Amino acid sequence: MIELKNLSKHYKSKNNIVRALEDISLRIDQGEIFGIIGKSGVGKSTLLKILSLQILPDSGSYTLFGSNVTSLSHKSLNELIKETSYIYQNFSLLYNLNVLDNIALPLKLRGVSKDERKNKALKMLKYVGLESKANDYPITLSGGEAQRISIARALITNPKLLFLDEPTSALDEETAFEILTLIKKIHKEFKPTIILVSHQLNVIKYLCNRVLLIEDNKVKRIGKIVNTDNLSLGYDGIWSDNL
Ligand SMILES: Nc1ncnc2c1ncn2[C@@H]1O[C@H](COP(=O)(O)OP(=O)(O)O)[C@@H](O)[C@H]1O
Ligand SMILES: [Mg+2]
Repeated sequence: MIELKNLSKHYKSKNNIVRALEDISLRIDQGEIFGIIGKSGVGKSTLLKILSLQILPDSGSYTLFGSNVTSLSHKSLNELIKETSYIYQNFSLLYNLNVLDNIALPLKLRGVSKDERKNKALKMLKYVGLESKANDYPITLSGGEAQRISIARALITNPKLLFLDEPTSALDEETAFEILTLIKKIHKEFKPTIILVSHQLNVIKYLCNRVLLIEDNKVKRIGKIVNTDNLSLGYDGIWSDNL
């Protein structure tokens, strides 16, 4: 469903070029929970932004649902973008809108009527267990609640592809686990393809069936990870063929 071939992305600033991703090739199948791990600065977020069509690669190809995204018209690209939702580490809620309006925002941007988006937003709010917060503003929410709201907002468009960039890194361990449990439930019930970036091995291990390890802005390894609690070997110790 997703295929990248020899994909690269550079950022140009005044004095230098940052090689954020080099020669990335991979496939991701429909319905997978695919993890991306690696140290800070190796290009994980850049890769997620390319996969979610927020930015385009400089070279190489990206095929999504059979279309080469770099040769699509603006209109076709926008249609594809509608199949995606993105969840950020810092929740990215709009602080001048109440919880219900935050959740309903993607539908408003698509021209859905007020009644319909309110009904759907209420349903999503219920799904994430925060009905009582409908009229509250994001400033009053805990980190875990804010992430639940951003998940509800992401799900309201029924995306085929769900992108998560460090979704639990700003949360305490217990709250993080609640969010991971919710993500697992969402995958089971709605079956989106989930692509998740994290530097936390236990997060990747809990959720993902296959993982890409990025090192020095290149693919270091792609594979299945071991179902074990022994993570003391770091990124090298998680692969199933190490057993
Ligand atoms: N918009 C940008 N402009 C210039 N450099 C960037 C930009 N975004 C990311 N970078 C650089 O690209 C590299 C990869 O960044 P990023 O994808 O955010 O890595 P990660 O998510 O793994 O920490 C880093 O060196 C970062 O500083
Ligand atoms: Mg990042």
